[in-house]
Amino acid sequence: METKILQDCATDLLEAATLLRNGNVVGIPTETVYGLAADATNSDAVRQIFAAKGRPADNPLIIHIAEIDQLYKVASDVPPLAQKLEKQFWPGPLTIILPKSPNIPSVTSGGLDTVGIRMPSHTVARALIRLSNCVLAAPSANRSGYPSPTTAEHVYRDMCGKIAAVLDGGVCDVGIESTVLTLEGENDVRILRPGAVTAEMLKKVVPNVTIDNAVLHQLENGKTAKSPGMKYQHYSPKAKITLVKGSLEHFTSWISQQQNDTGVYALVFDGEEKFISVPCLTYGIDSKEQAQQVFAKLREFDDIGANHVYVHAPIADGIGLAVYNRLIRAAGFEVIQV
Ligand code: TXA
Ligand code: MG
Repeated sequence: METKILQDCATDLLEAATLLRNGNVVGIPTETVYGLAADATNSDAVRQIFAAKGRPADNPLIIHIAEIDQLYKVASDVPPLAQKLEKQFWPGPLTIILPKSPNIPSVTSGGLDTVGIRMPSHTVARALIRLSNCVLAAPSANRSGYPSPTTAEHVYRDMCGKIAAVLDGGVCDVGIESTVLTLEGENDVRILRPGAVTAEMLKKVVPNVTIDNAVLHQLENGKTAKSPGMKYQHYSPKAKITLVKGSLEHFTSWISQQQNDTGVYALVFDGEEKFISVPCLTYGIDSKEQAQQVFAKLREFDDIGANHVYVHAPIADGIGLAVYNRLIRAAGFEVIQV
């Protein structure tokens, strides 16, 4: 199939909305990462998402809405705590897991009786939801296991020939996927995937915020993941990734001992590159910039032909926790302390 590249203009938005309405898959921009969208109520359309990504059928999709009315069509129960969260954080990068309404087919929810729901803040995403008159199921628009896409070009590269179109809405502002949380009683939430809505921000609205063990640790053998996505290899480019924790001084002397291996690269903070004895890329000066750049940089290492990338670990605080979470998964939990 030919994959069209559409622009952020009235005629192309309408074309994308019509494609979605008619059961096709379209790559769409959101403020977090690009999504691979289809009508969440259309099982055949949703199956095409799983096929295009090569995604395991038990890994549920997030449903994107543009109006609060749609929340009540997608979820069968919206407790007061969910209403409080929605009022505070939507539109924005927060996904709330709620009991699924019968309107949503089980293929969309990966066979679960719950669904993840969010209202994106990206104007193009919301315009498409409105114009198509659909709620949109959309996982990140990468090939399964590969770093998430933050530009239309990333999506095109992964999905060319597999989907009807990609709508170019520019570079994603946040750069990493939404915070995913589940409600545990009237005053408790559990973060299953950290994102730009941080634990600190949530604590201002919810008395008890727990960060699930799987955010920083590998799932133990025999344990069931609270979020099916936790059990799969993620965000990995072709190059092997190793996360290295420690001061710049220690990182610098440690990396100099790796420089004789071929294809060794480093990913470091802006300004550190001048101290590093192997070729490197940088990923910003603070956690916000690291979030914006991390996936694009992981992809860039494949373009360069890197074999092994040593990443200077970000500070795992605030949105930095989300960056750290993506990187330890990209590294298959290989972390070195120097
Ligand atoms: O920012 C985002 O969330 C992006 C954009 C496109 O909106 N979407 C995204 O979707 O990251 P995806 O499919 O790549 O990641 C969704 C994660 C997966 O780990 C999935 O297992 C989890 O959310 N998830 C979805 N529905 C769930 C549910 N009902 N229960 C538990 N986990 C769920
Ligand atoms: Mg994903």
